Amino acid sequence: MRITVIGTGYLGATHAAAMAELGFEVLGVDVDPTKIEALSRGELPFYEPGLPELLLKHTATGQLRFTTSIEEAGAFGDVHFIAVGTPQKAGETSADMTFVDAAVSGIAAASTRDALIVGKSTVPVGSARRLKELTQQHKRPGINIDFAWNPEFLREGFAVEDTLRPDRLVVGTDSVVADQKLRQVYADALSRETPYISTDFETAELVKVAANAFLATKISFINAFSEVTETVGGDIRTLADAIGYDARIGRRFLNAGAGFGGGCLPKDIRALQARTGELGLEKSMRFLNEVDEINLRRRDRVVFLAEQMLGELEGKRIAVLGTSFKPDSDDVRDSPALDIAGRLYGSGADVRVYDPKANANSAKRFPRLTFVESLEGAVAGADVVLLLTEWREFRDMKPGDIEGHVQTRRIIDGRNVLDRTDWENAGWVFQALGQKTSDLSAAAV
Ligand code: UGA
Repeated sequence: MRITVIGTGYLGATHAAAMAELGFEVLGVDVDPTKIEALSRGELPFYEPGLPELLLKHTATGQLRFTTSIEEAGAFGDVHFIAVGTPQKAGETSADMTFVDAAVSGIAAASTRDALIVGKSTVPVGSARRLKELTQQHKRPGINIDFAWNPEFLREGFAVEDTLRPDRLVVGTDSVVADQKLRQVYADALSRETPYISTDFETAELVKVAANAFLATKISFINAFSEVTETVGGDIRTLADAIGYDARIGRRFLNAGAGFGGGCLPKDIRALQARTGELGLEKSMRFLNEVDEINLRRRDRVVFLAEQMLGELEGKRIAVLGTSFKPDSDDVRDSPALDIAGRLYGSGADVRVYDPKANANSAKRFPRLTFVESLEGAVAGADVVLLLTEWREFRDMKPGDIEGHVQTRRIIDGRNVLDRTDWENAGWVFQALGQKTSDLSAAAV
């Protein structure tokens, strides 16, 4: 079986390399020639641990190749995975399906052999059935094309591991042939008894958005309690630990902080509301509006804390540690950290930013921030230090590492990862999200 992957962004490049690792001959397809040239040389245009090695290994042998030609893909592949993006539409909350529609109709028209098209992109419910029809309209006479929806659950930073060893496989289809072919594609995972859920199109589409909506809700749930502990006192981390011991709740995704960002959670909860609204089901997903708002209020809170600590932001030097939406990623899409950095700059602060991998991507969005290449460089002369993305380097940071560099010993832990006692014992004014702020004005010297 020969495989193509159409769309070689995060999802597609990882999927293509993983399929090659599983022993398939793979052709990656993208409309962006620069990306295709880089990938063909074995160079990854974004940061993802473990993926460059896999890419180099399989481009070197020719088992994994890349092209901009959809015709070549149509002549080559038995199974075509659709992995193009469904970004939030400009000025709207719904998902932009332009790229998925173009990829599906393009590969259907280009297929000169019987094939299976498998959608992996995150789409509004109802899309798969429509796209299956689109396939039938565009395919060549005499060619059979089956259709399936197979959502992807990989996390950035763990993309290789999640793709090679998924915790579950979900396949929506009405075709026995499609189901059988996908069981062959995923034979390795199935041999390890990975749950394989064979279902209809709608369930498969909804599983994906339901999972992300649940994760977003979990994060906003604990962040809503942060708002309470910020008023009444209490410790948000202990609260999360204590409820997390209940196996029905679980401790993961209960880390209070600056909130969720990235190319998936924020966009997916908005697109889900937009889609259910179209279906006349506004009330069903209305709580996600609250989830979104709680999340965005966390960013306001960090800016407020900085203001409280500094008295005013104008002219103050602020060190921002981390701008990626989460550690081990250079992705800054909808990043809480970068948004906060931009807002502080907008209020007149002199913002010095350091992210271990995301400086370049951040500079494309906020060229006026000052980017430096080290932790020491960022905190030099700082009136306050803001930890906004919990890279290992920042989690491990001790007061002694930076106190010789800052102007004043003030720190805001926007991810609840530092030990407050260590910092306070070393004479720092320490503030974390979820913490009461009564003594803050005293810090504004
Ligand atoms: C998310 C899902 O976790 C994946 O399962 C899914 O496949 C992916 O979206 C997708 O739809 O493609 P990802 O965007 O890589 O993956 O990031 P997450 O690890 O889910 O983190 C999302 C955001 O939540 C980050 O900004 C992170 O800092 C934040 N977060 C996470 C918290 O604020 N608190 C937590 O406890 C956990």
